[in-house]
Amino acid sequence: MNNRISYRKNLLYIEDIPAGDLAEKYGTPLYVYSKNRITEQFTILRKAFGRIPNFRILYSLKANSNVEILKHVRSLGAGADTVSSGDVFLALKSGFPPESISLAGVGKTDRDIDFGLTRNIGAFIVESAEELHVISKRAAALNKTARILLRINPDVDARTHPHISTGLKENKFGINIDRIEDAAKLATRLKSIEFGGLHCHIGSQISEVEPFTQAAEFFRKLATKLKKSGIRVRQIDLGGGIGVQYRNAIAHKSLPHEEDRDASINLRSLARVIKEKLSFPACELAIEPGRFLVAEAGVLLTRVLYKKISFGRRFVVVDAGMNDMMRHALYSAYHQIVPVKIQKSKIETVDVVGPVCESTDAFAIQRRLPSVKRGDLLAIMTTGAYGFSLASNYNSRPKPAEILIDGDYARVIRDRQTYEDLV
Ligand code: LLP
Repeated sequence: MNNRISYRKNLLYIEDIPAGDLAEKYGTPLYVYSKNRITEQFTILRKAFGRIPNFRILYSLKANSNVEILKHVRSLGAGADTVSSGDVFLALKSGFPPESISLAGVGKTDRDIDFGLTRNIGAFIVESAEELHVISKRAAALNKTARILLRINPDVDARTHPHISTGLKENKFGINIDRIEDAAKLATRLKSIEFGGLHCHIGSQISEVEPFTQAAEFFRKLATKLKKSGIRVRQIDLGGGIGVQYRNAIAHKSLPHEEDRDASINLRSLARVIKEKLSFPACELAIEPGRFLVAEAGVLLTRVLYKKISFGRRFVVVDAGMNDMMRHALYSAYHQIVPVKIQKSKIETVDVVGPVCESTDAFAIQRRLPSVKRGDLLAIMTTGAYGFSLASNYNSRPKPAEILIDGDYARVIRDRQTYEDLV
């Protein structure tokens, strides 16, 4: 249970600040993050994986790339997993040392590649033989050496939502199994390329160790095979994907009982598997968590605009829309929704929907919630990852502000956009 975001009596607090005060002061919709919760998540990982020598945690910027969040994660000791030159720019701006940054992505442009090369980033995660040739040419032209990891598609079923599964044969990511050896040989031959090792990312919101075990086993065999061909693997990166608890994020006796918690991955077993299967001498191991570090640290505060009943169905219309938080619209993702102030009210079954002109603009369908009225505040829980980072200006809606809480101190870490920002 999330003790940094909790009820004190009947009021929702983010660390030591009542969420209602933040909504009054900064307006809604509003993203609020608990800084200490991020620290705690990082500490959990570091403890679980602490016994593995040469182990690195690269924070995946795509989950939340607010510069203040990045600075905090960097101060905890993470490196950066990026997917665009924009991400690399933000990582550098937040103080990540260039060598701790890796650049992935199935479609890197020449601009992305040049940006990474001229900033001397630590590694390029390469997804095809053609990309290897391009990076080699760009690096030679710029008189640089590019350290590369080959992204493998291990054909492992991560048993997660199909839209966030990435390690299956039919997915666009990585180099297919029968071409890896050739690609590794090519990498060792090409000018201005240094072959660093192997990478994969099998999917996101994974709740079992088994898919990682399969990927690790695959890497073990592959690294042994490459060694026989005289190719040393110095780095193995297992990608991100560690899942979090979306259900039952917060409890109060007046709230309806939430369905069971999501299954959660046993991090110690995961660490044991990685250690057992992949501890080669002088080989660095890495993971790239995004969601795990920031999801549970964030809430999206939103105000109830209207209630209505249509053909017998109750709708609660709130001022946040799918442009602010897209996960339900995209993946029918479950997020707990709770009142910021608990009041004596009966439980109703409602659809919580936004103001955007799309039927998919919803946050919950047929959800049991304490009855709310116009002006009440709700918190959409577990929105620290892939919340703001997926936000858009659809329907000409300015993006929300972001606030970082540390104890009883609140800081605006991104201003709410203005109408002028839409021009
Ligand atoms: N590394 C690579 C290469 C990735 O593609 C991803 C996520 C990560 C690391 C971080 O994965 P995480 O630890 O956060 O699971 N928008 C979706 C998630 C898409 C994930 C894409 N790749 C969502 O809201 O669930």
